[in-house]
Amino acid sequence: MTSSIHTPNRRRFLLGTAGLVASAAAFRFPTPAIAQAVPLRVGFMLPYSGTFAKLGDFVDNGFRVQVERLGGQLGGRPVEFVKVDDESKPESATDNMNRLVGREKVDVVVGTVHSGVAMAMVKVARDTDTMLVIPNAGVNEATGPMCAPNIFRTSFSNWQVCHPMGKVVHDAGHRRVVTITWRYAAGDQMVGAFKEGFTDAGGEIVEELAVPFPEVEFQALITRIATLRPDAVFAFFAGGGAVKFVKDYAAAGLHGQIPLYGSGFLTDGTLEAQGAAAEGVQTTLHYADDLDNPANTQFLKVFKDKTGAVGDIYAVQGWDAAALIDVGLRATNGDWAARQETVAAMRSAKLDSPRGPLGFNKAGNPVQDIYLREVRNGRNTMVKVAEQAVNDPARGCRISA
Ligand code: BEZ
Repeated sequence: MTSSIHTPNRRRFLLGTAGLVASAAAFRFPTPAIAQAVPLRVGFMLPYSGTFAKLGDFVDNGFRVQVERLGGQLGGRPVEFVKVDDESKPESATDNMNRLVGREKVDVVVGTVHSGVAMAMVKVARDTDTMLVIPNAGVNEATGPMCAPNIFRTSFSNWQVCHPMGKVVHDAGHRRVVTITWRYAAGDQMVGAFKEGFTDAGGEIVEELAVPFPEVEFQALITRIATLRPDAVFAFFAGGGAVKFVKDYAAAGLHGQIPLYGSGFLTDGTLEAQGAAAEGVQTTLHYADDLDNPANTQFLKVFKDKTGAVGDIYAVQGWDAAALIDVGLRATNGDWAARQETVAAMRSAKLDSPRGPLGFNKAGNPVQDIYLREVRNGRNTMVKVAEQAVNDPARGCRISA
């Protein structure tokens, strides 16, 4: 499903200004002054339905609220949006991406949430040399072996958010841990990164449990956890699945009996629905609700004022995606076609993010602090910085620094 907000149509604008330019070549290589008047076409490829629907909405809103804060423009250019609901379905991802790039002729694609969908998007972005900013999906390959100058991420890699948790769990005295996740790229990679950190510290993974994405029938596996009686459980679920898992875990009587840990997606954007079942759950993420910095204070206020909702990590990542594109466009006075300069500015950007200072590595992945948080009174409260300035190793990326 595609819907567009049609501020002045780009094609119409170009036709309408034909008299202002001297030759056809000027259409293809607009001067900065002309480029500034042409709306930047942003294609959102996000889940607007299914278990990740709320995550997609918050990314979308975070981006739009940032654009509004910047005066309704990015790098001095008005913005028009095209939306595609990717439904978190990898099998439709190539067609959806081709539609945005081919038919809709967007200047930049912002998406998505699901790692499997993101993999297909990365392939099309590489083949068509389309600028892609990933505002959530953590699939390691996007900023690993599939890295490219036109691909950026304002979120995290699956490795990055979970590797620090291995040491945290071991330091808490736990030695035998069961992992549980959805069986797909994000789940496999997050569990893999936790396992790497935990076993390197001397811990043992007793059993790795999984259900297919996006299934939420957890009962049999929760019974298995009760039978195994590990010291702790590490989980990756997000959105509607995370709500159901945390509530089922508590309903089975395991809350307070077998400590529950996870990547922050287990409790971000979900706490209202999880209620008391989430209290005490500890997670690692590149954000916490109570981060005490001016950028976070402003973000939470502006987001609440504009949407009526409390901002979460997904909104932060959308907000930062818009800020990053703004940096790229500003460097060229709005000339998005000046790709080398745009990319160089984005690679070296230092964003004042609600999560704290945000820079990027050679592969375009954030370098960022990872926080240990605990759910206290319905908030993801920061306990400490689990690891400072975590840089994904970008294994297999051939861009030189
Ligand atoms: C992923 O598929 O990469 C993902 C989905 C939801 C939350 C975090 C990661």
